[in-house]
Amino acid sequence: MVMVAMGSSEAILHVFYGAAPFIKSDSTCSLGSLTKYKKKSGSNAIRLFKCSSIYHQFPTIPTIRFEKFKNTQFESFSCKCQNAESVSGFTTENENGTWFVDNAKEFNTIQETGHPPNLLGSEDVHEFKKESESSLSDAIEKEAWDLLRESIVHYCGSPIGTIAANDSTSSSVLNYDQVFIRDFIPSGIAFLLKEEYDIVRNFILHTLQLQSWEKTMDCHSPGQGLMPASFKVRTVPLEGDDTATEEVLDPDFGEAAIGRVAPVDSGLWWIILLRAYGKSSGDMSLVERIDVQTGIKMILKLCLADGFDMFPTLLVADGPCMIDRRMGIHGHPLEIQALFYSALMCAREMLAQEDGSADLIRALNNRLVALSFHIREYYWIDLKKLNEIYRYKTEEYSYDAVNKFNIYPDQIPPWLVEWMPNKGGYLIGNLQPAHMDFRFFSLGNFWSVVSSLVTGDQSNAILDLIEAKWADLVVDMPFKICYPALEGQEWQIITGSDPKNTPWSYHNGGSWPTLLWQLTVACIKMDRPEIAARAVKIAEGRLAQDKWPEYYDTKRGRFIGKQSRLFQTWTIAGYLVSKLLLANPQKAKILMTDEDSELTNAFSCMITSNPRKKRGPKSSQKTYIV
Ligand code: GLC
Repeated sequence: MVMVAMGSSEAILHVFYGAAPFIKSDSTCSLGSLTKYKKKSGSNAIRLFKCSSIYHQFPTIPTIRFEKFKNTQFESFSCKCQNAESVSGFTTENENGTWFVDNAKEFNTIQETGHPPNLLGSEDVHEFKKESESSLSDAIEKEAWDLLRESIVHYCGSPIGTIAANDSTSSSVLNYDQVFIRDFIPSGIAFLLKEEYDIVRNFILHTLQLQSWEKTMDCHSPGQGLMPASFKVRTVPLEGDDTATEEVLDPDFGEAAIGRVAPVDSGLWWIILLRAYGKSSGDMSLVERIDVQTGIKMILKLCLADGFDMFPTLLVADGPCMIDRRMGIHGHPLEIQALFYSALMCAREMLAQEDGSADLIRALNNRLVALSFHIREYYWIDLKKLNEIYRYKTEEYSYDAVNKFNIYPDQIPPWLVEWMPNKGGYLIGNLQPAHMDFRFFSLGNFWSVVSSLVTGDQSNAILDLIEAKWADLVVDMPFKICYPALEGQEWQIITGSDPKNTPWSYHNGGSWPTLLWQLTVACIKMDRPEIAARAVKIAEGRLAQDKWPEYYDTKRGRFIGKQSRLFQTWTIAGYLVSKLLLANPQKAKILMTDEDSELTNAFSCMITSNPRKKRGPKSSQKTYIV
């Protein structure tokens, strides 16, 4: 396809015009029919969902891009607990990749195990060691499964999610007894990989109902598509009958969370999990449902709404994701951009064709291209780029400025000059006018690889950097949430002297074993699973013994975190997902997305076109696709 005579944004718009999938239906979901329970708490009315369910039969909807589309009937689920429909009996592809298990076992060095070398080197001893290691590993895996199952939360008799932590030793529970959307993702994936689909299906449907919740904080309501950070199943007295009780779902959209942080990542993870569910179970009836389609669109509308921003990245407040307290990540943090891109890619695959969705789909496609261009160009650093920034001219008022964001070279932190390896690179944490946050944030980098937000070369360079900087990012426990920690005055100013986020603790350079699973997917995508296997081996040596902590402290990740919860579910589930995927790498596909030819084409148009030509009133020039 060759495209001529157009400005880049118009080009993209036209490339996608008419090419995007639709769903033919203007129906709204049955969210209006939800049963709500209203409880007075001080001056605030708290609404809770009551348990009951209603299923409606809807006609089949037309084409969806999903590969395993089945023309089945679907129903709208309106609130209520009770059993979600049974989803057993779906087939999955037989995807084997067991070669890797043996491969992984080769990573048995002194450095990793902490044991002295076997000087005798006899084959028998070696074999025995291998066998006992693998039976130990099996026992740890079994314990992890038992703990994961114990963490399951039920709603009216059906599994609906997993509790954040099951730590009976902790004196203050805070909200760790709730089901967090982001924490459930590795649990959900672990269940999908075990072909236990019900809990994931129930989770998707029940959180979908919460999306339409009337949420307010001091009379202000956020956007409609917002998904909660967490929810709790409460048992309350039945209205009008003091002798009976009922279960209700009580969500928290940030109105009760510490710091009142809005969970921007929840809806994005929800979309990613929905696609993984469909790909894994083969049950396309869930994604075809009108209420589910409406849910996807509500999230997209919220994310794609026009604002004042000049950038295609999503503008958010501090603490909008896994890092859910003040850490100086407000603006355009990488983690949110990677999840945003991934969710757009997944939604693009799942949205069915409908006349009313054309604008939304067009906006989605345009955003995908603009976002990947922006991140690949401006967030990327390696030695060469760093040297360019070092020599930047500043105060360039012009349309063709090299230093577009007016970055002062003095911003390059001294640690980075030493730290950047000769081979490798990464995406910086944030980009704002006159500000680059050079910290390495792991989840954002992993998920940029998984979602193809970055190019193949950049993906490999990220893994090269991880290997080169293993001693800083992994050492005694994978994986540093970010590197380096904020210290001294920087810590005081940026975190507000947060005692929980002291240097090398918690979000400020702490080590989070849950990140293993995202690392694993990224490594498998780039066909370098041995990197993840090495990290899993290190974690396996400690996690069960340490009672599955939420995070570790110190530069090397040697101590269990100061305020770390034990039996943290996403630590357990993250480990299990890594093990399952390394044993069967093909299955990681349910989480990956690849740039297709439409996107590649639109992206190259954007690179080759001269942005200056786009200025001025909208041109009437047409796009021609030859
Ligand atoms: C902490 C973490 C957050 C997580 C929650 C529940 O607040 O910062 O990412 O979702 O605990 O585990």
